[in-house]
Amino acid sequence: MNQHLKHILDFINEAKHLSEDEKVALLKSVKSADKDLLISEFKLERTEKVKRTTAILLEETIEELEQKRKAIEDSNDALQKSLKELKATQSQLIQSEKMASLGELTAGIAHEIQNPLNFVNNFSEVSKELLEEMLEEIQNGDMEEVDAIAKDVIQNLEKINHHGKRADGIVKGMLQHSRTSSGTKEDTDINVLVDEYLRLAYHGLRAKDKSFNATLQTHLDDNIKTINIAPQDIGRVVLNLITNAFYAVTERKKESKEEFQPMVIVTTERNPSLEGGQEGVKISVKDNGNGIPQKVLDKIFQPFFTTKPTGQGTGLGLSLSYDIIKAHGGEIKVTTKENQGTTFIISLPTNKNA
Ligand SMILES: Nc1ncnc2c1ncn2[C@@H]1O[C@H](COP(=O)(O)OP(=O)(O)O)[C@@H](O)[C@H]1O
Ligand SMILES: [Mg+2]
Repeated sequence: MNQHLKHILDFINEAKHLSEDEKVALLKSVKSADKDLLISEFKLERTEKVKRTTAILLEETIEELEQKRKAIEDSNDALQKSLKELKATQSQLIQSEKMASLGELTAGIAHEIQNPLNFVNNFSEVSKELLEEMLEEIQNGDMEEVDAIAKDVIQNLEKINHHGKRADGIVKGMLQHSRTSSGTKEDTDINVLVDEYLRLAYHGLRAKDKSFNATLQTHLDDNIKTINIAPQDIGRVVLNLITNAFYAVTERKKESKEEFQPMVIVTTERNPSLEGGQEGVKISVKDNGNGIPQKVLDKIFQPFFTTKPTGQGTGLGLSLSYDIIKAHGGEIKVTTKENQGTTFIISLPTNKNA
């Protein structure tokens, strides 16, 4: 029993002025007080215990949370790393697609360079002969003739220079195509770009396959002055659309028994009605190939999707094209009809704030 209660108990027992009944009643109260006290003590102890276990649990939880935080941090690091790797792989892929399309261009480039080279060779030979003639005329003293020949030679040299520059331009363009694009935009004559790639692609194919023949049509809108684009990137998009179109018409030609005339039409147009009344240009590449079946159509913009045999397609052309057009704030759309052909349409906004 509690020490203080015991004192009170003794005090009551010895009290002389209290009756027996009063003592019994008081003793009963004291005992019940003692019982209450015991219960309270017990409860207090229990609460203490609960408090201690809660503290332990809390500590454990904190530790667990810390471990989880570390795990998240680790997986975050791993994610960052794989993101970096992914980016590296992506740029490698872009490079390999570029190399593949460069392969397609090589024959066309050789063909395009052959023409200016022929000019340079012929005109330099002719000029040499002219100069020999001039020497004779100098000895003859016919200054009038000397004068005329000199003027001819000057004209020839101008032509040689002109064609030399043309070859130079073609080689530079090729080098630019294979280089990693900086994505820098510059004012570009889209009609010249489209025309150049169309010719390179066509002659490239012809060089590989002499029997290849297609009607080429260009409808280039003279109202387009220059547009601000990354020329290498848009050039690659156009080239891919054109090579895809040539491939499609060639396939159809191979399959068709009856007379079939392959046709590819490239069109540029200024200020078509773009969404939201934006100013812009539209570039379309239309072919009369086999068209694209619906279940293929759903996938053509996916990276690595190709229906071409191994070695002929990378499946990256349209996925890269999509990215490039998107980066220009534009759109790429396709309409197709089985056994009739396909049209790819690129819209590029040209307002400054686009
Ligand atoms: N003009 C087209 N006509 C028919 N099919 C096309 C045409 N353009 C693209 N395709 C389809 O889209 C696929 C993906 O094209 P692309 O991304 O350029 O890759 P690749 O040319 O390497 O196959 C092609 O394999 C082909 O099935
Ligand atoms: Mg392609």
